Amino acid sequence: MKIYKTADYKEMSRKAANILAAQVILKPDCVLGLATGSTPIGTYDELVAGYEKGDLDFSEVKTVNLDEYRGLPRDNDQSYYYFMHEHLFDRVNIVAENTHVPDGTQEDAQQECDRYEALIDSMGGVDIQLLGLGHNGHIGFNEPDASFAQRTHCVDLTESTIEANKRFFASADDVPRQAYTMGIGTIMKAKKILLIVSGEDKADIVAKAFFGPVTPEVPASILQLHNDVVIVADSAALSKSPIQE
Ligand code: F6R
Repeated sequence: MKIYKTADYKEMSRKAANILAAQVILKPDCVLGLATGSTPIGTYDELVAGYEKGDLDFSEVKTVNLDEYRGLPRDNDQSYYYFMHEHLFDRVNIVAENTHVPDGTQEDAQQECDRYEALIDSMGGVDIQLLGLGHNGHIGFNEPDASFAQRTHCVDLTESTIEANKRFFASADDVPRQAYTMGIGTIMKAKKILLIVSGEDKADIVAKAFFGPVTPEVPASILQLHNDVVIVADSAALSKSPIQE
């Protein structure tokens, strides 16, 4: 596990975008695993800037997103489908058919999750998976005590995740109660993992996840066992971790 410490969110975003850009340059038809949430917004802005400068070409890139709320139509502005189009897909020359997000409108959860897992495998797996980190250590929507072996599945969101995500909805009651998410087993199959994290409010969970024991109580701790993980964290997020200056 490599940890890069950056001065702030801006530098974290630039470094993460450079790592993703290197992947796109080295393998133009790569499969990028993508995340939503507030952390990757700056990274996507940097990728768009790279595209606008003519440094990056997404025409052959394929993407698979980590997760999606169950039951939200794709044109709802809180769906992760909508988020990805707004922050990245509609701003670069990626081919819409090459972008994939679990379909939250599919009522048959098992069928949709099996389809999505098979899709990832049929694409040859994920070359690099971008991850954010939840305050409770979740990755994707894999909440504490999720099995490390799980593939794409339907989850019930915990109260703490509903609480954290309600800022994007009119009220906590409007936050969907379930989501489809890649499982930890799916995430661990990615060839490379890039986790980004920013802010003092994540300092405790960063210390637990990457400097504490590997335990299902802290889902992200499993990443310690992946053989190619890069963490890009700003100094506030690393402020409680035993890391050299
Ligand atoms: C998003 C996702 C979540 C977020 C996490 C952190 O696709 O799967 O695990 O990465 O909740 O969210 P932010 O970045 O908003 O703090």
